[in-house]
Amino acid sequence: MTEPEWWKTAVVYQVYPRSFADSDGDGIGDLRGVRQKLDHLVDLGIDVVWLSPIYASPHDDNGYDISDYQAIDPLFGTLEDFDELVAELHRRGLKLMMDLVVNHTSDEHPWFVESASSRDSAKRDWYWWRDPKPDGAAPNNWGSFFSGPVWELDERTGQYYLHLFSKKQPDLNWENPEVRAAVYEMMRWWLDRGVDGFRMDVINFISKDPALPDGVQDPVSGLGDGFPHFGSGPRIHEFLQEMHREVFENRDAALVTVGEMPGVTTEQARLYTDPARREVDMVFQFEHVGLDHGPGGKFTRRALDLAELKHSFARWQEALADVGWNSLYWNNHDQPRVVSRFGNDREHWYESATALATLLHLMRGTPYVYQGEELGMTNAPFSAVDDLRDIESLNYYNATVAVDEETPIDVLARVAVGSRDNARTPVQWDDSPGAGFTDGRPWIAVNPNASWLNARAQEGDDRSVLAWYRRLIALRHEEPLLRDGRFELLLPSDPRLWVYTRTAERRQLLVAGNCSDGPVTVPEDLLGEWADAAVVLANAPGRERLTASLGPWEVAVLERSVPVT
Ligand code: NOJ
Repeated sequence: MTEPEWWKTAVVYQVYPRSFADSDGDGIGDLRGVRQKLDHLVDLGIDVVWLSPIYASPHDDNGYDISDYQAIDPLFGTLEDFDELVAELHRRGLKLMMDLVVNHTSDEHPWFVESASSRDSAKRDWYWWRDPKPDGAAPNNWGSFFSGPVWELDERTGQYYLHLFSKKQPDLNWENPEVRAAVYEMMRWWLDRGVDGFRMDVINFISKDPALPDGVQDPVSGLGDGFPHFGSGPRIHEFLQEMHREVFENRDAALVTVGEMPGVTTEQARLYTDPARREVDMVFQFEHVGLDHGPGGKFTRRALDLAELKHSFARWQEALADVGWNSLYWNNHDQPRVVSRFGNDREHWYESATALATLLHLMRGTPYVYQGEELGMTNAPFSAVDDLRDIESLNYYNATVAVDEETPIDVLARVAVGSRDNARTPVQWDDSPGAGFTDGRPWIAVNPNASWLNARAQEGDDRSVLAWYRRLIALRHEEPLLRDGRFELLLPSDPRLWVYTRTAERRQLLVAGNCSDGPVTVPEDLLGEWADAAVVLANAPGRERLTASLGPWEVAVLERSVPVT
């Protein structure tokens, strides 16, 4: 029998199917492609595959705009391919977590088509329709995540509909019980088909204040911040508890649920993940990946302050120490690649990729590996707008150059660094022209560094990023301290060293990393305490003990016994 809370010792691997492996040469990854690469995942040692959306979609936002929740998009294959993939995953002892995108649908979903057909439609209230203001303006001032206002006027019926993301992603109205019942029914259908759980897209946005009040206005864009009125809104806990009752209760299978929750606080996360409240198993929060955002958001970056990053993680570790559970991640399909972002993808590529992985994976929580991260994949050298595919990046670029205060080249430079497309270039399996991802023309260009940075080159190399991830994942499975051990951050304000301990009754681990491009002296106190401890993992050749200096991006994990107190 599977252990309760088995996901506390599990490692999740995210597949973004469009960019993972293309089996039919159309340049877009697909389900058969995923199936062909399962050996890679088994060898890596992961437990769960999180599959980004594969449902029918017009692909305005690469599948996060769903037009049929119960059909596979022909780009990715058929339901039969899907069933075969599930069977194959299960045969190999892996679980499958589906992406659940129910804050919004596509505007091409039959629910929305019907809703938009007339003011009297039986499904009119399934979405957020509002009259224009007397002067014809939008019902409120909220800005969308993908630039511009959240409202789109439907000329035919003379009302506006709400879309927090693109105008092709209208928000569902969760106040309507029929909407909730339809979503729960669809979820049960997938569980009956054998899936093992869901990653729930922006699930803390589903309960909106029905008054939809204006938000505080941003002086630059002139748009208002709606987040206080839809982030963890008035009925969110009620909805998640209802979903739990209607979908997950009384099922034998060992399921997992993850709530993607931008802007969630530690206090809220405790509520969402307290097992007694039956909402979700863990949250996916964004505090640490917002720390290098400037005042204008992700496309206006500022340098990372390591002390701030450590502090953020430590706060989350402490807040959920006794109740609740968190996800641990650097990357997903929405984030630039961590080795380029917080590490050094030039002189210290191997060291920084392995150091950052180690510092993340040995904290409390469930680690996530995003495809290609296990190879140390880097950001892409985007140099023209035509290189980009992502709607968020393109909308931002177009809106910003239209204002004409900055040259298009400067805007492009900012967009290129922050773009989600950095995560979406094809997985680099080998050094062939299509990087082993496709025999055709890839939908987004392969990163030219696939010539040396690829899975084949790392296979069999003990000193590769891939080998390192395998070790880390094995350690998560073998070392009970990693699940429950107490977390303590040491040297909190040190700008270069990131050091913490995990402690259980008799044993303690020290994780010590140098997050800088030069050598760093280890403080004497720390050295004195740990000088005799044994090294469990180290990314520098020949390290057997902690010594007075750690090299650039060097990381070491040590173990010692501690007296029973
Ligand atoms: C979060 C997803 O991760 C992102 O890719 C998507 O654009 C938005 N939610 C909207 O679904």
